[in-house]
Amino acid sequence: SLFQRHAVVVRDLETVVAPGQARAAAYKVAVLGAAGGIGQPLSLLIKMSPLVSDLNLYDIANVKGVVADLSHCNTPAKVCTFTGADELAAALKGVDVVVIPAGVPRKPGMTRDDLFNINAGIVRSLVEAVADNCPNAMITIISNPVNSTVPIAAEVLKAKGVYDPSKLFGVTTLDVVRANTFVAEKKNLRLIDVDVPVIGGHAGITILPLLSKTRPTVEFTPEEVEELTVRIQNAGTEVVEAKAGAGSATLSMAYAAARFAESCMRALDGDPDVYECAYVQSEVTELPFFATRVKLGKKGLEAVVSGDLAGLTEYEQKALEALKPELKASIEKGISFANKQP
Ligand code: NAD
Ligand code: LMR
Repeated sequence: SLFQRHAVVVRDLETVVAPGQARAAAYKVAVLGAAGGIGQPLSLLIKMSPLVSDLNLYDIANVKGVVADLSHCNTPAKVCTFTGADELAAALKGVDVVVIPAGVPRKPGMTRDDLFNINAGIVRSLVEAVADNCPNAMITIISNPVNSTVPIAAEVLKAKGVYDPSKLFGVTTLDVVRANTFVAEKKNLRLIDVDVPVIGGHAGITILPLLSKTRPTVEFTPEEVEELTVRIQNAGTEVVEAKAGAGSATLSMAYAAARFAESCMRALDGDPDVYECAYVQSEVTELPFFATRVKLGKKGLEAVVSGDLAGLTEYEQKALEALKPELKASIEKGISFANKQP
């Protein structure tokens, strides 16, 4: 669990600072959009990981100060600054894990799809650079609308002849983090024990928490299922409204993305037991992309946990059918954008 993981991080950091006993920090991570609301706290959390040897922070502006600041933390990751398109290639050379939170966030009244016109082009150009400079990296996409930006990334990688579906992930970890928190609160459970798979996509009704598959086993009334499902689906909007024009979730997102990046590195490092939910190319439904639990390994996505879709409740089955048209349209919108001339 994440809390155990934190204990391991702290223990490893203690090991690292003990002279002569340092564990080799091995992985090179790039954050694209590192000066933003997510990028800054995310970079801090990644800087804390004992698995990171190099942390390359890239943005179109304001990244120098972030790097100067972070570089004073006495954790092993070496932090380097890269500003503007001319420095993007250098930011990506030799990188193992790329994390992309670049792009504009929502304001009240907007859907994630309203961000498409700006963020689609940003993701396309960043992933082109990834294809050219670190085609074997695990690519983790946070920029919204995730339901479309991941298919855009796949098309870009295909056009460059370097698409490996087991290395491309839409980050839906925040949906799981929220589901775990809300379920633990509602049912008075120890947070550390709760794990709710969240499937589908990352927008509105495409976010489908499988409450019936909560671990440990929990009984919910139909009213609780409805209330929790709707809250998890609208949790992003809850934050957008509370921030009242100042953006969307940044701190909880940084926490969630740091967990996902750490899981990628643990998998690369040979940990045989790394599972996360993520939005990936998938055959579990008739749609080409779908979020489920996935097993991560040394080569990226090792297996999709398709069993999550078996034995759904009637409520979940209906919600699954209901989300498909919206998710399909978002995927097709991304694919057709990527295949248009820039
Ligand atoms: P922000 O505006 O605070 O930061 C975005 C950063 O991206 C800025 O620093 C900006 O300079 C940078 N940027 C813009 N164009 C760039 C480019 N071409 N190359 C590199 N950097 C570029 O926004 P934020 O709050 O950090 O949110 C970023 C994105 O993450 C938004 O699209 C938001 O909707 C999304 N998001 C996704 C999730 C999720 O669960 N997947 C959660 C929260 C937010
Ligand atoms: C979230 O779920 O918090 C993000 O996708 C940001 C948003 O626009 O809600």
